[in-house]
Amino acid sequence: MIELRDLRKEFAGVTALDGITLSVPAGEIHGIVGRSGAGKSTLIRCLTGLERPTSGTVRIGEVEITSARGAALRTARRTIGMVFQHANLLDSRTALRNVEHPLEIAGVPRSKRRARAAELLELVGLADRGGSYPAQLSGGQQQRVGIARALAAEPQILLCDEPTSALDSRTTRQILDLIRSLRDRLGITVLIITHEMSVVREVCDSVTLLADGQIENTGSIIDALSQADSPLSRALLPLPPSGRPSGTVVETLTTGISLDTALEAVRSSGADAHLDAGTVETIAGTVVGRLQFTVADAAGAQTLITSLAARDIHAEVA
Ligand SMILES: Nc1ncnc2c1ncn2[C@@H]1O[C@H](COP(=O)(O)OP(=O)(O)O)[C@@H](O)[C@H]1O
Ligand SMILES: [Mg+2]
Repeated sequence: MIELRDLRKEFAGVTALDGITLSVPAGEIHGIVGRSGAGKSTLIRCLTGLERPTSGTVRIGEVEITSARGAALRTARRTIGMVFQHANLLDSRTALRNVEHPLEIAGVPRSKRRARAAELLELVGLADRGGSYPAQLSGGQQQRVGIARALAAEPQILLCDEPTSALDSRTTRQILDLIRSLRDRLGITVLIITHEMSVVREVCDSVTLLADGQIENTGSIIDALSQADSPLSRALLPLPPSGRPSGTVVETLTTGISLDTALEAVRSSGADAHLDAGTVETIAGTVVGRLQFTVADAAGAQTLITSLAARDIHAEVA
């Protein structure tokens, strides 16, 4: 659905994108993460046709954004709905009329756009708030209106740039639930740019880590996680801080097995291992865990690692 091929963008002496090749299948929720300056905004601007790449191509569905001009580019842009950190609603318009706005610009007749806007507000769970002004809505409700507005032109893609960065954690969860349910109901493809790993954990099917304009890591969430020692895996499933362990530290990463099974494997290894810290979560429907043990010495560590390996549990000296 979204196809980027060897995308490069250079600004006077700065390489913002350095050969990005990525494809996101239709109906997938894909996260793009990376430090400030990694190239995320430039990537989005190339996707929406706001920025012309120095070389390479961007295809969305059947349309090649990079070569489209004029009316063709405007039509192509309509296949993309944008959601930002702040909904930036028009204060003087009700929620309903905010959602109507893009339809007005597109010349949709009044009665038709009213009906469509009401439908969209219902879709985002605000059927009864159409008459409210932005100042009368919470941040989460405003973001819902923003999402409804982004969906007005029936886009195939929802591009979300830091959609929850201004929201508290409970509202964040509600907005992410909404995004997932919209994907399920509308089959829309979603790209989420975020600096919050919790967003990736909660809602994304796959993820790309950008660094210095290049893809450092990309794949399904579980594949990315499985590379236990990679920066992306550590960011997705971090260990909480633990006291200074005395002895040799062994770390394990488990996917798809219960904590009980993992701990039983440790016990039956015969190594005198102490659990210092751990994180266990269900991500993309799979139970994943990162556990940190201390054992007396290197020999004990080897016993533990070998025994776990025999049960397909990855472990290594930290
Ligand atoms: N219009 C521009 N002119 C010059 N340099 C730019 C411009 N836009 C971005 N850059 C540079 O490109 C790199 C990537 O920036 P950006 O895409 O904004 O990263 P991110 O959104 O991940 O923080 C940075 O080094 C930035 O300074
Ligand atoms: Mg940016």
